[in-house]
Amino acid sequence: MPDVRIDQSVSPAAHRAGMLAALEAGRVDNRFHYVGERSAAMWRALASSHSPAHADDGLAAYDDAARAALAALPAGPVHVIGVACGDGVKERRLLGALVSAGRDGISSTAVDVSVPLVTAAADAMASVPGVAGADAVAVDITAVTDLSPLLAPRRPGVRVVTFFGVLSTLGPASLAAAMSLLAPGDVIMTSANLLPDRPGARDAVMAQYDNPPTRAWLAAVLEDIGLAGAGDIAMRWDESADSPAIVGEVTPGEPLAATVEGVTVLMPAGRPIRVLQSFRHDTSGLELLLASAGLRDVVACVSPSGEEGVAVAVA
Ligand SMILES: C[S@@+](CC[C@H](N)C(=O)[O-])C[C@H]1O[C@@H](n2cnc3c(N)ncnc32)[C@H](O)[C@@H]1O
Repeated sequence: MPDVRIDQSVSPAAHRAGMLAALEAGRVDNRFHYVGERSAAMWRALASSHSPAHADDGLAAYDDAARAALAALPAGPVHVIGVACGDGVKERRLLGALVSAGRDGISSTAVDVSVPLVTAAADAMASVPGVAGADAVAVDITAVTDLSPLLAPRRPGVRVVTFFGVLSTLGPASLAAAMSLLAPGDVIMTSANLLPDRPGARDAVMAQYDNPPTRAWLAAVLEDIGLAGAGDIAMRWDESADSPAIVGEVTPGEPLAATVEGVTVLMPAGRPIRVLQSFRHDTSGLELLLASAGLRDVVACVSPSGEEGVAVAVA
């Protein structure tokens, strides 16, 4: 078993307070979608079957980005830190690329709000031959935006901080947590779901969400808090913010009681509960985000379909 440090921000009390506040605002935030063993397992199955990032198309962008990161790295030890890394599949591939390129002195740390996922990620990252083990930190990066004390002391060499698949749901402000780990010369890699500018693109993207496994995963999240009877999840495009987003909402036909660790909150009939919100970006927006955060040498790698963008930059 990997060494998993649990930050206070993922304590049962913090989880309960955060979930109750979100429910009162009519949402089940993304950070709650992965914390249970069952929902974490369902998401892992879903990601491997439906995420474009896991298919050849998406992997091409991640592999190009790994090459760009390698080109930006100075000689010496490398510490790969996967922030909001899920089960660490992408970090495992990156670590493999570093080893294949002849790098040594590679270590890794998994960081995520989900204890089941961060544990799986550390196992996956440590399984790469040539990587000197992996540890893990469970932390809520919306509550703790300066992660540096949790990753202290700094290891010798350069850091590669990954922040994959999260901007779309947590928003651009969440980049601050990944940025907090960087010193000058460190490398950051981040990815975003893109909306290609071509006919049919919206339908293709919607199909990645509006499908039985995604509905089952979100329904399990609702069931875990007593909202199994809330009804069908309606998926639609939402244009009300700066970027288009896919949202999924469920509207109870009658008042329902959600229960979070013994505390009950009444969800009124007729008021939508937002269970999914995923913004789409474009490549220039991704590059601009990194450049305006003060990063340099920004390189954006886009998958052949134009649906996945992975950017690399130097602090
Ligand atoms: C869409 S998954 C992406 C996982 C992985 N990076 C990938 O690209 O496959 C989103 C990940 O962000 C994590 N996450 C969501 N909210 C978080 C928060 N507030 N703090 C830390 N991790 C969070 C989830 O637990 C999940 O592992």
